[in-house]
Amino acid sequence: MDNISRRRFFKGGLGLGAAAFLFGKARPARAQTRGLVPVIVTDHANQTGQNAVKEAFSILAKGGRALDAVEKGTNIIEVDPEDTSVGYGGLPNADGVVQLDSSIMDGRTYSAGAVASLEGIKTPSSVARLVMEKTDHVLLVGPGALRFAKSYGFKEEDLMTEKSRNFYLRWRENLNKDDDWGPPDHLRKPDEKVAGLYDGIEHHTGTTNVLAVDSNGDIAGITSTSGLAWKIPGRVGDSPIIGAGLYVDNEVGAAGATGRGEDVIKSCASYFIVAQMRSGRSPQQACEDALQMILDKYKKVNAEFVPGEKFVALNKKGEYGCASMPGNRKPQMAVMTGKGLVIHEGTAFGS
Ligand code: GLY
Repeated sequence: MDNISRRRFFKGGLGLGAAAFLFGKARPARAQTRGLVPVIVTDHANQTGQNAVKEAFSILAKGGRALDAVEKGTNIIEVDPEDTSVGYGGLPNADGVVQLDSSIMDGRTYSAGAVASLEGIKTPSSVARLVMEKTDHVLLVGPGALRFAKSYGFKEEDLMTEKSRNFYLRWRENLNKDDDWGPPDHLRKPDEKVAGLYDGIEHHTGTTNVLAVDSNGDIAGITSTSGLAWKIPGRVGDSPIIGAGLYVDNEVGAAGATGRGEDVIKSCASYFIVAQMRSGRSPQQACEDALQMILDKYKKVNAEFVPGEKFVALNKKGEYGCASMPGNRKPQMAVMTGKGLVIHEGTAFGS
């Protein structure tokens, strides 16, 4: 894929939560956020994300741990069969195999765990938590991660839904007009195929970040994804890379990323956002700082290239923010506190 189509590709991939919100019930809140703890947030502002933070907040409301709340919330999003970007029903790689990435970080104990290219398990974030709590490692990948999960009783399942399988089959048929997938040539009209590669497919990347501060002031976060749709088998994105797709510092706050993982890995974006918050920037400012940092890097190489990241951040006071790359839909996040659910609208940076 050249730069231009890649750029379009990622722009098209953003905004799942925002699009879904249009049909939701909660109303958006703009701009300044006042801190309130305990709090849990997710970039998934759709109905599932709203349900996730509401249910997970019940743990925080009882004085429970941020770590338990983020796992609970993420699991709800991971098992949603309609969500083609995370967990069960996530879009597969180029071989038609769903490979999931997830990371978890517990600020209270300065611990982290992650899994990458994990197949067959609907809730990779819970496997990541076991890596964090039951081993001295941080990251397990592929078949080793699957064996590890099964040793703890996780059930290996087909992660494809009818919806994700149909998207995949359509992508495979449309991939190359000269190959043999699709109707026989004698039944195909000359210019039939094969509209745009991704026509009709809602989005091609997408991830969930769930971040929380509990009533003790402890902070935890999870990032979970099926990664880039149609990726080269074995490709690992930013989501399981601590410091890239997720970072938590118990003295400062937490940050998570969605979008083009390759940029997020190169920029260590979540670590950067938390470092910015440590230096006094608000979560909103820190997310925008990270976007600017990435844009500045590309400016020197290809000034026209605009990648497609979105960041969410939460600080220890319970303030939050989110921002996406220029030209994208304004990002939204679902935020649950003792005052109820709010849909927060961030900024499409520079737009
Ligand atoms: N941010 C998800 C991925 O690139 O895999």
